[in-house]
Amino acid sequence: MIGIYGHGSARDQICCLRLVEELGDDFKFYDGGTNPALARAAWSVPAQQMSAHDLAQACKADGISLMFVTDALVLQADTVDILAKEGIQILAPSRHAALLEGRKSLMKKLMVEAGVPTPDAWIASSADQAKALLRENWRDGHRYVVKTDPLITDAIHRAMVPETLIESLQDVDEEMEALHLAHAPEQVLIEQRIDGFETSVHVIWDGETYVLMPPVRDYKRVGDGDTGPNTYGAASVACGRGFAPELDRQLRERIIEPALNHIRNAGYAYRGFVYFGVMLCDDGPVLLEINVRPGNPEFLALLGLLKSDFADLIRHAANGNLAVADIRWHEDSYCGAVFAMGEGYPQTMTPPRAIISGLEQALSEGYTVVEDVAATDDGAFVVSGGRVAATVALGSSLEEVRLKVLDRLSAIEFKGKHFRSDLGYGIADELFASA
Ligand code: GLY
Repeated sequence: MIGIYGHGSARDQICCLRLVEELGDDFKFYDGGTNPALARAAWSVPAQQMSAHDLAQACKADGISLMFVTDALVLQADTVDILAKEGIQILAPSRHAALLEGRKSLMKKLMVEAGVPTPDAWIASSADQAKALLRENWRDGHRYVVKTDPLITDAIHRAMVPETLIESLQDVDEEMEALHLAHAPEQVLIEQRIDGFETSVHVIWDGETYVLMPPVRDYKRVGDGDTGPNTYGAASVACGRGFAPELDRQLRERIIEPALNHIRNAGYAYRGFVYFGVMLCDDGPVLLEINVRPGNPEFLALLGLLKSDFADLIRHAANGNLAVADIRWHEDSYCGAVFAMGEGYPQTMTPPRAIISGLEQALSEGYTVVEDVAATDDGAFVVSGGRVAATVALGSSLEEVRLKVLDRLSAIEFKGKHFRSDLGYGIADELFASA
């Protein structure tokens, strides 16, 4: 029996739908969130009021042998460690290993030690220090991004890329304030901004063997043609043929293998997904970030390309025998996902609570997952945040996928709905292996 515990993101939902399809009654979702489509499912267990100890007891009573946890903030708490202590097998990092995503300063230190190419960065422990570093270095074409060192909810939803020194100084104040409000260490990372094509590189890892998943692009900007501010991910598209051969080699040799070897040697190995945020630059791939869970919305596209059994894949990873897993992809296909976003997002994280029509029908067809949706007392669905619902489609060309996704998305309506309509835009020629 396999379980997922999470807050009910679109990524949780797509994983649940796949595991229910494969496992039937041998799957349960432990619901720590507010996704109404998950809450009403027969295989969903309300877990919002459960402590980690309660959750462990519930899992044991239900006969859960393997638990998969994908939520970045849950991974920063002690839930996984408590479940593991109770003898439940886990596909996720321990709290200690989750610091690879939870503290950017740790990731940077380890990657520099490993010789992995990554932009220059400094850690600043006060706003004054951060601003002094920015004033001193913001010149001669050098630009910087400011990131909170600890992972906090606010920072997850706010990835700002300042265009000017003044904007970057404002970012410092905003991020320090967000850290203060979150009672987190008030430390920011000032990182050199590099130009290139950003891509998400996912591997599944059993602590020894890794399997590289297909290339996937996360469309972060809100507007078509990569315009407007960053969202937490507005759309994604993946290609079953894999990375172009030369890029595949460079990613493995320069980033994935030195990074995983050093992570293991430094005592941070785990069994689960590792997601490398990578910039493809003129002189090769450069590592921007490491996340210890699958990306959202990247995983909506990646999972659609997995032809072999998902349950089998995660069992092999959790058992430490990925080397003998039978993993097949839809090699002749692309898969894409697009979010319908709430009015004003990402400038506001709290769009108006507009009523959503067509969602019930869309959910019943199996191509739609929701994230920021609430149910009213009389059963209507309303917008409750920025990334409302996403539709997914598989096809044999980027254009076919784009048209299918948008057709499916047109069935869901609400006031202020907006979305990226240019799936496939700007895909670097060198990213996907040629057909
Ligand atoms: N796609 C961004 C993330 O999952 O962090």
